[in-house]
Amino acid sequence: MRSLSPEPGDVDLVERYAYPPGGAWMRANMVASLDGAAQRDARSGGLGNAADRHLFLLLRGLADVVVVGAGTVRTEGYGPVKPSEGWDGVRGGRSPVPPLAIVSRTLDLDFDAPVFTEAKARTILLTTATADPARLEMARARADVIVAGRDTLDFAAAVGELEARGHRRLLCEGGPGVLAQVVAAGLLDELCLTLSPLLLAGHPARILDGPPLHVPPELTLAHTLQDEDFLFLRYTRSR
Ligand SMILES: NC(=O)c1ccc[n+]([C@@H]2O[C@H](COP(=O)([O-])OP(=O)(O)OC[C@H]3O[C@@H](n4cnc5c(N)ncnc54)[C@H](OP(=O)(O)O)[C@@H]3O)[C@@H](O)[C@H]2O)c1
Repeated sequence: MRSLSPEPGDVDLVERYAYPPGGAWMRANMVASLDGAAQRDARSGGLGNAADRHLFLLLRGLADVVVVGAGTVRTEGYGPVKPSEGWDGVRGGRSPVPPLAIVSRTLDLDFDAPVFTEAKARTILLTTATADPARLEMARARADVIVAGRDTLDFAAAVGELEARGHRRLLCEGGPGVLAQVVAAGLLDELCLTLSPLLLAGHPARILDGPPLHVPPELTLAHTLQDEDFLFLRYTRSR
């Protein structure tokens, strides 16, 4: 990967994607086709290339926790986070991997799956007070559970609780349903967007899938990287 802006040349990805110091910082990492599709054949896997995969894994290594919707966990068949190439020195004194924090109301998840049973950092569930009590009990046996909100997740409260547990550097891997709510709650600080050189048409979701935002946040372009015909854009919140 090479940098196009702010200055062209070689790039140290760990340095470029270092989280800023201070309080909680929510980064989202998404990939889209040139015509805005966030899905290809109902998944995101067919949109990226090897550099996108490398960045996806590196951003996990830099994060304290990975927030992801249950829809993505089910569709993409998420397993537990595993240490990856390029992580040398990035975890510091932290757990060897960041935990996943899965957003789910129904808790319709396989609690015997490796994402719960083989996680090197105990998986977290972000759920609501009206979740089914029996499923909640199963969830508590296999994961750390954070209840925030009654019928719908209170994203701000959930993120506040993650921060209180020491998870300051947050990474949201979507999907579009969850990311739309993260943005609507005013919680997104940074968007890392891989632009994939494909035109897909059809009716896939965009990277945000939710009702229109009354006050659309404006973002500032922090850098542009290139690998093959892919662009890697990093936008931060204009404060
Ligand atoms: N292009 C990309 O970068 C990218 C990234 C990620 C995913 N994707 C694609 O996006 C698709 C999945 O995205 P998605 O939008 O359908 O699903 P999603 O955002 O990953 O997850 C949606 C699920 O999260 C839970 N949830 C959402 N809002 C909630 C709330 N307010 N309170 C409680 N729970 C809540 C619900 O889980 P329960 O149903 O369990 O209650 C809901 O079904 C897949 O095709 C995936 O491949 C693309």
